[in-house]
Amino acid sequence: MAEFSMVRTIERTRQGEALGAAAIEALVDGFTRGDIPDYQTAAWLMAVLWRGLAPDDLTALTMAMARSGDTLDLSSLGRPVADKHSTGGVGDKTTLVVAPIVAACGVPVAKMSGRGLGHTGGTIDKLESIPGFDPELTVARFMDVLRTSGLVLAGQSADLAPADGKLYALRDVTGTVPSIPLIASSIMSKKLAIGADAILLDVKVGRGAFMRTLPEATKLAETMVRIGTGAGKQTVAVISDMDRPLGRAVGNALEVIEAIETLRGGGPDDLRTLALHEAALLLVMTGAAPDEAAGERMAREAIASGAAFAKFADVIAAQGGDRHALEDFSSLPHVAAVQTVTAPASGYIAAIDPLAIGQAAMHLGAGRERKGDTIDPAVGIVLRATVGEWVERGAPLFDIHARDAAHAAAVRADALAGYRFSETPVAVPPLIKTTITAPT
Ligand code: URA
Repeated sequence: MAEFSMVRTIERTRQGEALGAAAIEALVDGFTRGDIPDYQTAAWLMAVLWRGLAPDDLTALTMAMARSGDTLDLSSLGRPVADKHSTGGVGDKTTLVVAPIVAACGVPVAKMSGRGLGHTGGTIDKLESIPGFDPELTVARFMDVLRTSGLVLAGQSADLAPADGKLYALRDVTGTVPSIPLIASSIMSKKLAIGADAILLDVKVGRGAFMRTLPEATKLAETMVRIGTGAGKQTVAVISDMDRPLGRAVGNALEVIEAIETLRGGGPDDLRTLALHEAALLLVMTGAAPDEAAGERMAREAIASGAAFAKFADVIAAQGGDRHALEDFSSLPHVAAVQTVTAPASGYIAAIDPLAIGQAAMHLGAGRERKGDTIDPAVGIVLRATVGEWVERGAPLFDIHARDAAHAAAVRADALAGYRFSETPVAVPPLIKTTITAPT
């Protein structure tokens, strides 16, 4: 390659020209080392936001970010390893259900999760509501837990894809977060650094999600599937509904309880349906099941036999968590008093705005308004009735789990404003919109 020029690279991206892998690698290396200044990288990011990136350049960007720090070698497990990622939603505790089911079916699951920001929760925040649970694992400990439990649920290591961490911080302050190629490469670089063989992506769509429309969500899903497939990984994306909260519980310990109930054969229908679908896909992708129907049967059996819950309890204990708290929920963080909000009128529930519920939970202390805020594991909202159901005036609509009456009063009206009622029956939008299995 001719000598790398950042100015020329910005200009070429601005013109919509392909850059080639060598230029992309020079850019990522130079930026990560601090040789390319933020102002030039920010200009390039803005050019990508407007002009996009050629598919080969996008793969090169993702691979360069993935290789910018530690990468794990999972080959010593001797069998295909699964990973799952959600783009984030309100009440999304699916990972806590899917990962133990898949592991209970004999497929190792290596999961690194982030913390939540804004109205969407993070898997690690939820798990940390279990007394003693430690998500901060060294690479050696990560591998050890994975080998002995067949499942590991760790926090994101700062040493994993550090180029992404640095680029994301710059995107955050330069208006360049909402770019499909940049989001796709950011997410996939971390997945590729972990190195699982089968990657299941749950792309949420709707008012409570990053992607508000189906065309946008489809584009993001297709882009990530193309990157993963191009890197030699089995990659499948499920596009699922986030125009209402998933399940009934929103808030960290409350979501852990709902995940456990689902692992034990109960739980809300939508969460169970999504978890079984995703588990079945991962079982097929890793070769553990011949087809989706067989995968779903295996997943149901893992729940019915108690194996899925036992797997969850094992990994929690392996990471220092109190196994007893998974059976006796009074040992999990909880508030002293719960306030129930009732229906102002009789009718069918036509909609529950996930943003209104997510923000109410965040204001109670379940989520972070700013990076670094501490969260309260006990608080949140539990829906007592959901979309499509009939409620009588005065019947329970939702419970507010707040630290005190003032906090509950502060979110009550906003959460209630998220409900829409109808005098006639309403059609519930499909939970699973589509599954994307191959690049188009
Ligand atoms: N999550 C990520 O990891 N990166 C993005 O760019 C957006 C969401």
